[in-house]
Amino acid sequence: MEIYLDNAATTKVYDSVAKEVKEFFLVEYGNASSQHPIGINARNKLEEARKKIADYVGAEPSEIIFTSGGTESDNLALRGLAKANPEKKHIITSVIEHPAIIETCKDLEKQGYKVDYVNASKDGIVSVEDVINKTSEDTLVVSIMHVNNEIGTIQPIEEIAKSCKEKNIYFHTDAVQGFTKVDLDLTDVDLMSVSGHKVHAPKGIGFLYIKKGTKIAAIMTGGGQECNLRSGTENVPGIIGLAAALEEKENVEGIRESRDKIIVMLKEIPGTRFNGSLESRVYNNINVSFYGIEGESLMLMLNGEGIFVSTGSACASTKLSESHVLNALGIDVLYVHGSLRLTLGSDAIGNEDYIAQKIKKKVERLREISPFKLNLKEVKDE
Ligand SMILES: Cc1ncc(COP(=O)(O)O)c(C=O)c1O
Repeated sequence: MEIYLDNAATTKVYDSVAKEVKEFFLVEYGNASSQHPIGINARNKLEEARKKIADYVGAEPSEIIFTSGGTESDNLALRGLAKANPEKKHIITSVIEHPAIIETCKDLEKQGYKVDYVNASKDGIVSVEDVINKTSEDTLVVSIMHVNNEIGTIQPIEEIAKSCKEKNIYFHTDAVQGFTKVDLDLTDVDLMSVSGHKVHAPKGIGFLYIKKGTKIAAIMTGGGQECNLRSGTENVPGIIGLAAALEEKENVEGIRESRDKIIVMLKEIPGTRFNGSLESRVYNNINVSFYGIEGESLMLMLNGEGIFVSTGSACASTKLSESHVLNALGIDVLYVHGSLRLTLGSDAIGNEDYIAQKIKKKVERLREISPFKLNLKEVKDE
């Protein structure tokens, strides 16, 4: 049996998506810039897909710029704004962002930008006030993610965006983990990053929503595709696949119920902590820590049982790397190391007992063989 519980890492494409995309590899394979019928057909289909995606997000087609995914969209947003608006040199983001944002910000710091990394609460939520208190005349953009990729917490995007609008500051959100899962009103959002492979579309496709009137420049030079903002032959199969994925509906309630059942069962294990608010949270995420064990060992043991999850800690040969998100929450290091992320899809439904029992057994085993003498009676369940 294989139970895939790592949907925040990537998703399986829907059957309908695979079927549709295949047609664009084998039959309708034209370059959308070519002037013959196969190329013109590809262009027409691409623009139809752009319209469907724009309708889905409540935007105009010209506001959707296709990219290779979340990382590129994040880079285009921040670097593109920086390039087009060189008079402003201050950026605000948070400590719990994905590396696609954090590393881009660090690179911009090397180019002379001042970046403020706002903290999150112990529950994994960024405060609107903390962000707004950091703004100044020099602030170019505020970039706060919609849903955190590790702990699944939903950030108060609409409020932050509204405050930024009042102050004439661009607002960008990395919505890679929230898109299709948590509604988002784009009224005050200027830019939004999305990735296809997190929503059952193919890998290598994504888009950046750019509100009309936003002053932004391309960061790559080339043939001038995508309104001169993203050069390179368009990934027509990927674009078609992304539009097709949006026509499918995930079993949201089934997955939420499954998630909640597993949480109840895991709570019975002593020395357990759930990371991130359980209320303001995407419906498929469980981030749980078991005190005093190594999350990576637990993950590997679960691999052997056909249960595929991820962990916030990785033991490379020379160092034990810790999740920057869990560290930012200020929780005990023996909880940080024992973390497991389960991001559920339809595989979880009906398998809740199996999943929870296997985790329980493996945690017990790891604690038995632990070199630390764990006294779990003294550990406060959080
Ligand atoms: C929040 C977030 N942003 C950006 C990315 C990067 O997206 P991609 O893999 O499409 O480059 C990810 C992927 O894990 C993510 O979770």
